[in-house]
Amino acid sequence: MLSLPARYGRLGALITPVALIVFMIHFLSANFGSEDSLTGSGAIPEAELDAGTSPHEPPCPPPLPGIEDILVVVKTGITEAQEKVPVHLRTTLRCIPHRLIVSDYEEEIAGERTHDVLRRVDPELRETNKDFALYNRAQTHGGRSGLISQDMNKVANGATGMSGNPGWKLDKWKFLPMIHEAAEFRPNASWYVFLEADTYPIWRNLLAWLEPMDPEQALYLGNQMQIEGIIFAHGGSGFVLSQAAMRQLVDFHAPRQDEWDRFTEAQWAGDCVLGEVINKAGIPLTWSWPHVTTGSLWEADAFSHHYQRNVWCSPAVTFHHMNPTDIERMWEFDQEWFANQTHPHLLYSDVFRNLIRPSLNFHRDNWDNLADDKPSPGDHGISPPAIPASPSDCEEYCASLPNCMQYRVDDRGRCTTSKSPIRGVPKSGLRSGWLLDKVDAHVEELGYCDIPAWVMP
Ligand SMILES: *[C@@H]1O[C@H](CO)[C@@H](O)[C@H](O)[C@H]1NC(C)=O
Ligand SMILES: *[C@@H]1O[C@H](CO)[C@@H](O)[C@H](O)[C@H]1NC(C)=O
Repeated sequence: MLSLPARYGRLGALITPVALIVFMIHFLSANFGSEDSLTGSGAIPEAELDAGTSPHEPPCPPPLPGIEDILVVVKTGITEAQEKVPVHLRTTLRCIPHRLIVSDYEEEIAGERTHDVLRRVDPELRETNKDFALYNRAQTHGGRSGLISQDMNKVANGATGMSGNPGWKLDKWKFLPMIHEAAEFRPNASWYVFLEADTYPIWRNLLAWLEPMDPEQALYLGNQMQIEGIIFAHGGSGFVLSQAAMRQLVDFHAPRQDEWDRFTEAQWAGDCVLGEVINKAGIPLTWSWPHVTTGSLWEADAFSHHYQRNVWCSPAVTFHHMNPTDIERMWEFDQEWFANQTHPHLLYSDVFRNLIRPSLNFHRDNWDNLADDKPSPGDHGISPPAIPASPSDCEEYCASLPNCMQYRVDDRGRCTTSKSPIRGVPKSGLRSGWLLDKVDAHVEELGYCDIPAWVMP
């Protein structure tokens, strides 16, 4: 599926048919990417700021085979780094030998130095373009004391993201400098893996995915997304560039920076800008959904079938919109799962059986399971419940529809359903329910996967 997150969703009218398939689903989950999901208040109590590496931590196990050849780049920003980066330094990044945290401000976060990649941007542009106001304030005041309350505003106030959010507006300028920073930081890595601070990487699946690929081939792997005519890899889902692709990209962009700065000024999404430079550099995107996705673990739809992809048997390589608690939880599971020698991969079916299914109940109040298929009167000749529907009307309706796995009733008594069981997220005023017998019967039918379904270039 060409999954479009909410911040791209409202551009639907501009999206050409190749992209149309399922992005509607994503319109409705009003979540935002890394730089855009900021905390409401700027100040974070000292006690919550945890050190990344404490002296009590056990030494790292021997490095995972292949991880030495990878540079992991995590993109963050001054308005979110303290909240979102330390958890990674304790978990996913702790034993990663080559890593780089890129930001809009150089500082120490839990013992790790961030790299200010915006120092690479043309100084005149930084002075004149208003997007850099936050950057310039942080520079002038030596960091967070330069931030103002608006910098922490996280309201989505436009069709194209959070145009009222200074950190978000600045974010698009980091993508191209980040590429150059990464190339200089470790020129000889086989693979460059780009993540955001709310992206969860499943390293063993990533390594198994890359293993058969040739880094001397120009490869760009990511979650396909489209804005206007441009197809690119979504930033928050995480994307990968091979050694050859990095060289080709750097050589292409370095002599044309002014031209692409002007292009960036006119765009609102930095991942789209980068994707267009990569396209123009002649590197094709390998459509890598569902290995890399826009959604969190709790939004994962293991039953879905889009783009002829067998999600059930696909390894999950990333989840997005993962908050620090989700990251801790997933890390614990990840460690346990792979400690078992019989588990070379973690498939969506494993995620469903082990993490999602055990968290489902018959129903849950103040909960949104993202069931949003509207009843259609002719559907299998079954009449939808009248509005307002009671939860039991809605449940009964779902029970009578073949393939309906879950339902949701909103605060106005509107009943919607879906064919996939999704755990979902808390949301007041909604009641969500799952038809667990149907879910379990379907899981049985889907069975166990003999071989993982990989997307290959
Ligand atoms: C990359 O360079 C570093 C030092 O510059 C060296 O230690 C390392 O072995 C090289 N790695 C590869 C994959 O060539
Ligand atoms: C390893 O996984 C297999 C299959 O999922 C399970 O039967 C077995 O009990 C697990 N072993 C351990 C030590 O957890």
